[in-house]
Amino acid sequence: MNKNYEKKIDDIIEKLTLEEKISMIHGNGLFRTEAVERLGIPSLKMSDGPMGVRHEFENAHWNPIGNSDDYTSYLPCNTALASTWNTKLAYEAGSVLGREARGRGKDVILGPGINIMRSPLCGRNFEYMSEDPCLISKLVVPFIKGVQEKNDVAACVKHYAANNQETERLNVDVEVDERSLREIYLPGFEAAVKEGNSYSIMTAYNKLYGYYCSHSKYLIRDILEDEWGFDGVVISDWGAVHDTVEPAEAGLDIEMNVTDNFDDYYFAKPLLDAVKEGKVKEEVINDKIRRILRLMYRINAFSEDRNRGGYNSLETREKVLKVAREGIVLLKNDKYILPLKDNKIKTVAVIGENADITHSNGGGSAEIKALYEITPLLGIKMRLGGNAQVSYAQGYSEDASEKEKLINEAVELAKNSDAVIIVGGLKHMAEALKLEQNALEVTKGDRVKPRIDSEGYDRSDLELPYDQNELIRRVLEVNSNAVVVMFTGAPVDMTPWIKDASAVVQTWYNGMEGGRALAEVLFGDVNPSGKLPMTIPKSIENCPAHKIGEFPGGKKVKYSEGIFVGYRYHSTYDVEPLFCFGHGLSYTDFKYENMKVNVSEQSEDIRVQVEINVNNVGKVSGAEVVQLYVSDETASVKRPALELKGFEKIELAAGEKKTVKLELDKKAFAFYDAEAKGWLVEKGMFKLYAGSSCQDIRLTSNIEISKDYRY
Ligand code: BGC
Repeated sequence: MNKNYEKKIDDIIEKLTLEEKISMIHGNGLFRTEAVERLGIPSLKMSDGPMGVRHEFENAHWNPIGNSDDYTSYLPCNTALASTWNTKLAYEAGSVLGREARGRGKDVILGPGINIMRSPLCGRNFEYMSEDPCLISKLVVPFIKGVQEKNDVAACVKHYAANNQETERLNVDVEVDERSLREIYLPGFEAAVKEGNSYSIMTAYNKLYGYYCSHSKYLIRDILEDEWGFDGVVISDWGAVHDTVEPAEAGLDIEMNVTDNFDDYYFAKPLLDAVKEGKVKEEVINDKIRRILRLMYRINAFSEDRNRGGYNSLETREKVLKVAREGIVLLKNDKYILPLKDNKIKTVAVIGENADITHSNGGGSAEIKALYEITPLLGIKMRLGGNAQVSYAQGYSEDASEKEKLINEAVELAKNSDAVIIVGGLKHMAEALKLEQNALEVTKGDRVKPRIDSEGYDRSDLELPYDQNELIRRVLEVNSNAVVVMFTGAPVDMTPWIKDASAVVQTWYNGMEGGRALAEVLFGDVNPSGKLPMTIPKSIENCPAHKIGEFPGGKKVKYSEGIFVGYRYHSTYDVEPLFCFGHGLSYTDFKYENMKVNVSEQSEDIRVQVEINVNNVGKVSGAEVVQLYVSDETASVKRPALELKGFEKIELAAGEKKTVKLELDKKAFAFYDAEAKGWLVEKGMFKLYAGSSCQDIRLTSNIEISKDYRY
């Protein structure tokens, strides 16, 4: 803590009137608080979101201003970033977001989103990173440092906590046992706060244990502040506050909302009255002001030479491209169809609407007014540079009446082309949903069946929309070498055609350079190195939350699957996924050799050092993510068959060998003992698994821990 500004903060608080304090703790614009000009305190300016800095709105209305100066860099979505498993790239992506936020005059950027992907159907999965708390924690820390370190901007990690669905998102009451909350849903936030030093955090819309997250003393005062020592600002999601005294006392610092009656916000006049009437102590308000001023000092808001940032620089594009390249996952390459050999190909058929549409301006609050977005079709054409004839067929459409015509056109094109690339998947434009509504795509209860990746909706099933399964099957019938690219923000069901497809690639809402990156991977300029940050299940019934009938729940949702989320469930209960967590192929092969493990136990902690030799035994250079999983062989409680506890991404030239060194501490072996309200490592045997995915384990080692550790 910097004593310098703490003293100044106390002096400012002395000078502020109660009315001025109140004006600083609620929205007085859709994305800002009020300034206190008399004392030189600026207003706090915020902007969405995780994929770039959102365009400007009118102060009090959700009307885009429509200027030409708010086009910004469009970053790969968080799922794409997580698929890189590259902590350095997470820093780079954060640094782009922070720099651009500052360049657009913002103080707080409303990201990253890090909620656990509890179900593949959650509409906001594309904004989130993973189903695994270790992967999230390891990426969110450098991301936040990248945002904050050099840019004089605050990150606002969101949505705290247990915000894992969009259905009933404003009210749903989550019930999750404490062990699962601690082991699965909170670690990412804890890392963001304790290691990433996020200057602010956003409370979620939903309830937890009957309390709105913005009102939850347990979440804010007890865990965030007392346990984790958070001294930053707690900002509500937009419209997530439902009362005055309760959230004020629980520790919420700023109330934001979506309406323009700013003086009526709970933290405006009603809170002013509550303080005057003695229902809330002024010290409670002072604590909020102290945190807000502290954030302002941290981002140099009072300084003459504050970082000015910038946006859309050339350097930024390079960084965004790097993330896009590494986020693409090669799921299947049976006959080594990929990479495509451009010197042999004269005609290329690109099939599927997702090859030719942009996605940046969709998805909800993560929408971006992108400076540009290279589609797959454009990327492929740019890559081939006129040396091959690239033809496009739309292949599918939301308009069911066009189906036969579009499929026939695509099949004809596929028959007559040397190479075929199908780009299907999902989209996340609200228009798509409206069209679906118009097409009367309704279930029995007259509920729309959303099939898009978007805030505000969960998908109704895993199925690929718009008859894409039929399109893919029929194209594969005439050209079994067709490459299938799934362009989504979350898993889709590929089982109707996966056996017939030899080459399958997963890409995501992959930023403004996404199409270029895809072409580079398809034609082998870039060797794919992405790994799935979530399980792609064989069916929705194979997902634990769905199997037990607890997604999306009703007014309440009970996370009865407990800690068995994603691969923790699949691996423990022997449920075969379509593609497992951590999976991703390369154009080369890596051999793992010689696992050395050294355990040293100290009085308070454990240190386990692991060394593995990795050898690129193929013909091209490539990158591998060495994943380290742990299982507790002698636990007194049920624990997952294996859990990710460390990883390292390395680049290896053809024939090159490197030693990967990973280190684990007691946290890697502990579970949360809900009765004792603390973490426990039980003495006994543990197994370490080093592998290329959670199923492709190459080396194992047993270790023994000689005593219990509680903390
Ligand atoms: C979303 C937040 C977003 C906020 C401001 C809310 O609806 O849940 O993620 O930051 O709107 O746009």
